Amino acid sequence: GGLDAKMKAKGKRYFGTATDPGTFGNSQVASIIRAEFGSVTPENSMKWDATESSRGSFNFGNADALVNFATTNGKLIRGHTLVWHSQLPGWVSNINSASELTTVIQNHVATVAGRFKGKIDHWDVVNEVFEENGTFRNSVFYRLLGEQFIDIAFKAAKAADPNAKLYINDYNLDYAGSKINAMISLIGRLKSRGVPIDGVGTQAHLIAGNSINSVPAQIRALAATGLDVALTEIDIRIRKPVTSALLTQQATDYATIIKACVDTPKCVGATVWGVSDRNSWVDSTFPEFDAPLLFDDNYAKKAAYTSASNAM
Ligand code: XIL
Repeated sequence: GGLDAKMKAKGKRYFGTATDPGTFGNSQVASIIRAEFGSVTPENSMKWDATESSRGSFNFGNADALVNFATTNGKLIRGHTLVWHSQLPGWVSNINSASELTTVIQNHVATVAGRFKGKIDHWDVVNEVFEENGTFRNSVFYRLLGEQFIDIAFKAAKAADPNAKLYINDYNLDYAGSKINAMISLIGRLKSRGVPIDGVGTQAHLIAGNSINSVPAQIRALAATGLDVALTEIDIRIRKPVTSALLTQQATDYATIIKACVDTPKCVGATVWGVSDRNSWVDSTFPEFDAPLLFDDNYAKKAAYTSASNAM
């Protein structure tokens, strides 16, 4: 129903949100997800620190609960994320042998993607591999393995869950420049090496009134690689103080982003990074900003909700 049904009527797979037991455990959040969204992304529960905080010792408590919530309610799942420099346990960052790291990546991906085999619609296999200037991020993965860590991760994911669509995901792909150019070049190299990649995710953590109009052309540029494209973590934060003018700007900006996906055949779906402003990561991560989502602190629909809906 709701937003998801409108998105599907436009030929897309889903309109989704991020959640985890800590948020869908709230009955108002759960009922909004049931009514409005067709896909869920685990906000934290499938990350490396949550699933394998010590080597070879796996914990799927919250991830299993998320998958159970999704399957019980008929929602697709975007798995997030297998290989990422952040929320990465120290024991991984401290590895200093390439062959050991390869084994560790392969075992992590095989175990996490293997556990949910057949239940995941998209996997964000690697996340945030680039710096803003388009060079590779200086993670343990890149330091020891170079760009081959990406090939290793995708091949392991394909072996573990052959029917999941495999994605590379990043942020600040919202405007023209070095970072999106580097992503497009990398996708070309991965395809030429036969790496099993299906899609590119653009997170779309945006600021109301700030360069939103450049986003549609970047979605088209990503689509021109031939991969599927998804908007994976949309939020549009407002610089405090939040005014009615800025809430109106935010509503306009949501429409611009959603419409860009609707109008791009290769864009398969869009996910907002949470349900209610009450639970958004923005509060702690960007304290000078607020109110980035479609539902307010009291779980009521905002102008942004109506505007996003009308854009579908
Ligand atoms: C964020 C979560 O929302 C927070 O709860 C957590 O503390 C940190 O991570 N890019 C990503 C997401 O790919 O995994 C991040 O999620 C937000 C930025």
